Amino acid sequence: THADYTSILISEPAPGVSQITVNRPKALNALNSTLFHELNSALRTFSTDDNVRCVVLTGSEKAFAAGADIKEMKDKQFAEVYKGDFLAHWTELSQFRKPIVAAVSGYALGGGCELAMMCDIILASPTAVFGQPEINLGVIPGAGGTQRLTHAIGKSRAMELVLTGGNFSAQQASEWGLVSRVVEQGSVVDEAVKVAGKIAGKGMLAVQAGKEGVNAAYEMSLANGLHFERRLFHQLFATNDQKGGMNAFANKQKAQWTHS
Ligand code: HXC
Repeated sequence: THADYTSILISEPAPGVSQITVNRPKALNALNSTLFHELNSALRTFSTDDNVRCVVLTGSEKAFAAGADIKEMKDKQFAEVYKGDFLAHWTELSQFRKPIVAAVSGYALGGGCELAMMCDIILASPTAVFGQPEINLGVIPGAGGTQRLTHAIGKSRAMELVLTGGNFSAQQASEWGLVSRVVEQGSVVDEAVKVAGKIAGKGMLAVQAGKEGVNAAYEMSLANGLHFERRLFHQLFATNDQKGGMNAFANKQKAQWTHS
């Protein structure tokens, strides 16, 4: 159960919103196998629970996550990582179908930056520091850094960051479109919960379709993406929430979502 987790904390900061707080303070929230096992387990329970309609993922004031746990990783051998497909289960979160809002304070480096980029919306504290420093360890990003960062901020910037291992600030992340905005110091979790609360107040089916549609823009040509979007749109006319939502508007009432 949630109470048995050692590396994450679970809370419900608002109706329909569940929060996962990465909690390995002594290691600046370095990400290890146990942590991902727990994270995946929590998301699995959330995925089948209609009372969870949006998730907030955060760390501490000092670190969202300072990367993969270098001490756990350093002695691994090629045969082991290749056979076991090391990192495969680290990216399970990207398959989660409900929205995840990342609230980033402090270090989001390496796997920490990649974890934030697997989320759907990133809000940043002015103290947030992003980067892919893997090159300084003799490796490269392995959980999406070369791909998602390039999609988000463009080739030249991503290339410079991945090849030099340099960090970038919350301000830069915002100017480049990696994060949706920088919020006031100390308020990033509250702001993320506010956004998540708004999303949790919508019909889940439309939210899920909206997430699928936006994500399709990263996978498909424009023509295929537009076709996919139109089909998702059509499908929503089979839902009670579409009938309820549109009738409520026409009758000047507030929509009551049944998530069906
Ligand atoms: C294991 C880590 C860690 C990490 C910090 N710690 N980051 N342990 N893996 N990624 C531990 C430190 O060893 C130290 O433990 C404690 O956390 C506090 O860290 P300090 O270094 O003392 O803190 P500070 O001086 O404030 O420096 C903060 C920092 C630095 C700049 C973030 O810790 C740092 O450079 N960390 C590594 C960042 C990094 O390279 N990340 C990418 C990892 S590779 P002790 O026991 O000494 O107190 C990666 C690959 C991704 O992510 C592949 C796919 C996921």
